[in-house]
Amino acid sequence: MKITVVGAGAVGASCAEYIAIKNFASEVVLLDIKEGFAEGKAMDLMQTASLNGFDTKIKGVTNDYSKTANSDICVITSGIPRKPGMTREELIGINAGIVKTVSSSLIQHSPNTIIIVVSNPMDTMTYLVHKSTNLPKHRIIGMGGALDSARFKYRLAEALDAPISDVDGMVIGGHSDTGMVPLTRLATRNSVPVSKFLSNDRLNQVMEDTKVGGATLTKLLGTSAWYAPGAAVSGLVQAIACDQKKMFPCSVLLEGEYGMNDICIGAPVILGRNGIEKIVEIELNDAEKAHMVESAKGVRATNDLL
Ligand SMILES: NC(=O)c1ccc[n+]([C@@H]2O[C@H](COP(=O)([O-])OP(=O)(O)OC[C@H]3O[C@@H](n4cnc5c(N)ncnc54)[C@H](O)[C@@H]3O)[C@@H](O)[C@H]2O)c1
Repeated sequence: MKITVVGAGAVGASCAEYIAIKNFASEVVLLDIKEGFAEGKAMDLMQTASLNGFDTKIKGVTNDYSKTANSDICVITSGIPRKPGMTREELIGINAGIVKTVSSSLIQHSPNTIIIVVSNPMDTMTYLVHKSTNLPKHRIIGMGGALDSARFKYRLAEALDAPISDVDGMVIGGHSDTGMVPLTRLATRNSVPVSKFLSNDRLNQVMEDTKVGGATLTKLLGTSAWYAPGAAVSGLVQAIACDQKKMFPCSVLLEGEYGMNDICIGAPVILGRNGIEKIVEIELNDAEKAHMVESAKGVRATNDLL
């Protein structure tokens, strides 16, 4: 299993590290446009192999797509991250050009690859990859919901004063501060609805903290986060590489599902060897449906900027 990660910055390197540590891939190619940068990150990561006990070979390259040839999965993290006070949508001007060029170069050398889009504004960048490459929809996956759901579970565990392994929950909708739809109604602690333990006010607080999860970290760090994003991407890559048939909320092209068309937005999907093997339609209540409609409006407004 060969995996390429484009962008050897904070998220790309973290993602390569988690993939390697999980030890399911034979090779990870890390590619960056900055001369020598990916080579340096790859060498540093390879020097952790004997310490962390993995055999995955990580190779760094400067903009040489021939080295990415025949990758089974390609992850796009290239582009600029947001700074404190910025929204993800403000990144579109620079990142759209980068994502378009990068996806076309990747497909040239790996025509059968599955692409995971991470660069922001992620739902719009996923839509851009659809429009510009014409790859089948099951081979283009946007990563946002897996991260937002991990942040949701972190906030739920905090509110419940419970171990995170006791908690389950999912965030669908757009990957933006206003677009996320944390499904508090369906979140559970060991199968018991979390509303049995938490007041409406506390649940609303969890929801709001989840939605600004990225912005909170950007303010603290001075740039956007990387550990949880990298771990979330590695989870999707592993589900595909190991044909796990796991369910994650991912940005996917909807064609009638959730009453939407011609939009990439977060919905639960089953990930396996073929990429997106199924879009799962869950029954939403009226408030959740209205929240999804609002979320889609936001994503479409950013898509219009393309
Ligand atoms: N979807 C998500 O959940 C999520 C989470 C975190 C970050 N992000 C996004 O991921 C992206 C990367 O974030 P980061 O913190 O790693 O940024 P970073 O600045 O640390 O790394 C980005 C890397 O991309 C490289 N790059 C730029 N143009 C390139 C090109 N044309 N070809 C190859 N490489 C190129 C840069 O040299 C840099 O090393 C940002 O757009 C950020 O907003 C998304």
